[in-house]
Order: sequence, then C-alpha cells, then structure tokens
Amino acid sequence: MTVHIKTADEIEKMRVAGRLAAEVLRMIRPHVVPGITTGRLDEICHEYIIREQDAIPAPLNYHGFPKSICTSVNHQVCHGIPGDKALKNGDIVNLDITVLKDGYQGDTSKMFFVGEPSIIARRVTQISYECMCIGIEMVRPGVRLGDIGFAIQHHAESNNMSVVREYCGHGIGHNFHEEPQVLHYGTPGTGLELEPGMIFTIEPMVNAGKRHVKLMPDQWTVITKDRSLSAQWEHTILVTADGHEVLTRLPDDPL
Ligand code: MF3
Ligand code: CO
Ligand code: CO
Repeated sequence: MTVHIKTADEIEKMRVAGRLAAEVLRMIRPHVVPGITTGRLDEICHEYIIREQDAIPAPLNYHGFPKSICTSVNHQVCHGIPGDKALKNGDIVNLDITVLKDGYQGDTSKMFFVGEPSIIARRVTQISYECMCIGIEMVRPGVRLGDIGFAIQHHAESNNMSVVREYCGHGIGHNFHEEPQVLHYGTPGTGLELEPGMIFTIEPMVNAGKRHVKLMPDQWTVITKDRSLSAQWEHTILVTADGHEVLTRLPDDPL
C-alpha cells in the first residue's frame, strides 16, 4: 500500500478545492425544498462549479457517472443519480459534492431535511453525523485506521443502527480515490498508522435498519436491502503534526 504524503504545495491546493466543495453545499442549501427535483439541484451545482468557481465537478463522467453531484434520498445509501423526481416533505437527502480545482480534489457531503422529517429520519441523520465527528476528532499522527473504524461502528451499533461495509472513505488528492481505504468499522490497534501530510475522507453511511445494501439496475444507486432509511456525512481531512485540519469545513461553520 502506498499512501501519498502531500507536499506543502499540494496541501495548499487541497485547501482551496476543499473550500470550494464546502461552498457548493452552502450555496445549495436554500434550494433544497419540497417540489424541487434532484436533477435541478444537480444543474444549479453544475453551473455554480463551472461558472462561479471556474472548477470541475469531479463526478461527471467519473467511471461513466452521468451527473455532476450525487443525490441520495431516504433509503438510498450513496451514489444516487439526480433525476426528474421531486423531493417531498419529510424526505432526507444527501448531497455529495466533489470539486476538482487546479488538479486537486475536495470531497464533502451532508444531509438535508426537506420540510419536516420523521423522528427516525432525524435520528439516523444525527447518528451518522456523530459517527463522522467521532472519527474526525480521533485523527492525529500515531492513531490507526482500525481505531477510527471501530469507534464509528461502535457508536452506530450502540444506537441500534448499522454501518454499511461495501463503501468507505478514501485517500484523496490529485485523484478522486486514492489509498488508503478508510473503513467505517474495524478493530482497534490494526490498520494503517496515520502520519502528517496524509489526506483522506471520512464518510460513514449509517442505516436505521440492517447494514446490507443492494445496487440498483442503473448500476450506481446503492439502496438499503431492507429499505430502511440511510444517512451519510463526509469531510476531507488532513493529518497535521499535532492533530487534523478539516479541509472541507468553512471558517465558523460546524463540521
Ligand atoms: N463523492 C463520492 C465519494 O464520496 C464518490 C462519487 S463517485 C460518482 O467518494 F461517480 F458516483 F460520482
Ligand atoms: Co468520498
Ligand atoms: Co463524496
């Protein structure tokens, strides 16, 4: 396994790409209301990234992905393809934004409530958010990826929810997906030991029901096998000498 340690110059470019990805999520928030289609959300983000940011939406044509962002609604786990379906009151939706700027990538996603969500929708959203935060707070040199995966899994499962195993966080930089794989489950004391200059995402997918997932016939959209609700949050994280820096967090914003 070769995990690339970023140079100071690369880190600066990753800061820019990370900020741009975060700004797309901030820009789109007021648009996420009942009646809008996920296809329209994709168009708005696409235009903003190309025209306002002079950047590239990395998902577009990535291994054939047909749109510029991923939109995963309710029991969709990840990689949902934007389309003609309108969001309705009570839906929860993950918008996953990856921006390529000056040769480097920033990858972040968050959950949005469409109108008034149910109690279980709020709960799965909150627990997945806490899982991401618990993982991020652990990031510093010397910690091992198994420690982080274990903590995330433990938090989800002790709240009677489950962690998706088939998809994981990832190293990121010049490439959208690089080594290492960042599993959201695991065994303490195992796995890669973190070093300053590593950059990777933490992006736990948490299901309100069982952990098993299924790929839809479109070959992209992942759903829960039991059709339970699923939620995900994602940030891009730099390992620093004494901790971490969240590259996709805007100043003064919460994670
Ligand atoms: N942004 C997703 C991730 O967090 C990957 C999307 S790949 C795509 O890794 F092709 F579906 F866009
Ligand atoms: Co990612
Ligand atoms: Co992403």
